[in-house]
Amino acid sequence: MTKKIGILTGGGDCPGLNPAIKGVVYAAEKFGYKCIGLAEGWKGLLEGKTINLDKKITEYFIEKGGTYIGTSRTNPYKIEGGVKKCLKNFKKLNLSALVAIGGEDTLGVATKLYKDYKLPVVGVPKTMDNDLSITDYTFGFDTAVTVAADAAFRLKDTGKSHRRIMVLEVMGRHAGWVALFTAITSGADFVCIPEKKIDTQKMIKKLKESYRRKKFALVITSEAAELDGLGKDSEKKELDQFGHVILKDRGMGAKIASLIEQKTGIETRFAVIGHIQRGGSPTIFDRILSVRVGMQAAKLIHKKDFGKMAALVGNKIKGVHLHKATGKLKTVDKKWYEMMKILF
Ligand code: F6P
Repeated sequence: MTKKIGILTGGGDCPGLNPAIKGVVYAAEKFGYKCIGLAEGWKGLLEGKTINLDKKITEYFIEKGGTYIGTSRTNPYKIEGGVKKCLKNFKKLNLSALVAIGGEDTLGVATKLYKDYKLPVVGVPKTMDNDLSITDYTFGFDTAVTVAADAAFRLKDTGKSHRRIMVLEVMGRHAGWVALFTAITSGADFVCIPEKKIDTQKMIKKLKESYRRKKFALVITSEAAELDGLGKDSEKKELDQFGHVILKDRGMGAKIASLIEQKTGIETRFAVIGHIQRGGSPTIFDRILSVRVGMQAAKLIHKKDFGKMAALVGNKIKGVHLHKATGKLKTVDKKWYEMMKILF
């Protein structure tokens, strides 16, 4: 009987998921396996809901945004009897292995299922936040930055015309990579990332200087940034099943813009790019990366090298231990602060 691989995509979607699925399917079929999609992340395994996948279905996936098999932020460890149901359905569906495509949360569950039950699982790293350890980049990030940089260039035009300060809020829950890379590529005047509390006085001084010179300034902020002048969020915080604060109503861009206007007296506007960064066709970089890590996942399964994740290390795709990739978030570190000091 042909062996069957279950594929799931969990957590926030990002461009590259469909090409990654294609990579798994194409390589798996070459090794003699059939693939089946589990609908909407871990929820699919929990409820035994599947979606057909084969080479014909995935043929045009390379440039397609979103995820054909759906996603959710379901955590089986937070649902009563959830893990048992997953294990039961794994057997019932006759699966011989599982490919979990996700970020720290989805792959965190995969790590636990491998550790606790030796479930034959391998991971594929994805997240627009680029905050997974061991892998140099996660697919979704390059597209997110490309889209955000395009928004920043557009804001520059309108900001320059109106002699305004413009603020662009980008995503990035615990990590400032998207904000930092967008700020560098768009030649912004200031960047606010969650890893480093922003000194408001410094920011205002810098913006006044920039404005004096060119009658315009651009600020890129992460949705999760912290500024010393703004104080703590007072509202009750909504958490997802993985215990992360849902940042959708935080309004960092609006808060920073209003603070800047108040302290500088210069007309300031803001824009929030939000989920636009997660849609659309993946960039060439993300297409190549996602298809490569997808294929590597099938290879790991074929070698029975479970409990591993396909990672980009240098220019090579390697199998690394899942627990190492999910143990600690990769956030913007001191080496980048040096660069930030010089640029912003
Ligand atoms: O983790 C990826 C991400 O896009 C974060 O940057 C953001 O905070 C979060 O997902 C938003 O999640 P949701 O799509 O559930 O609102």
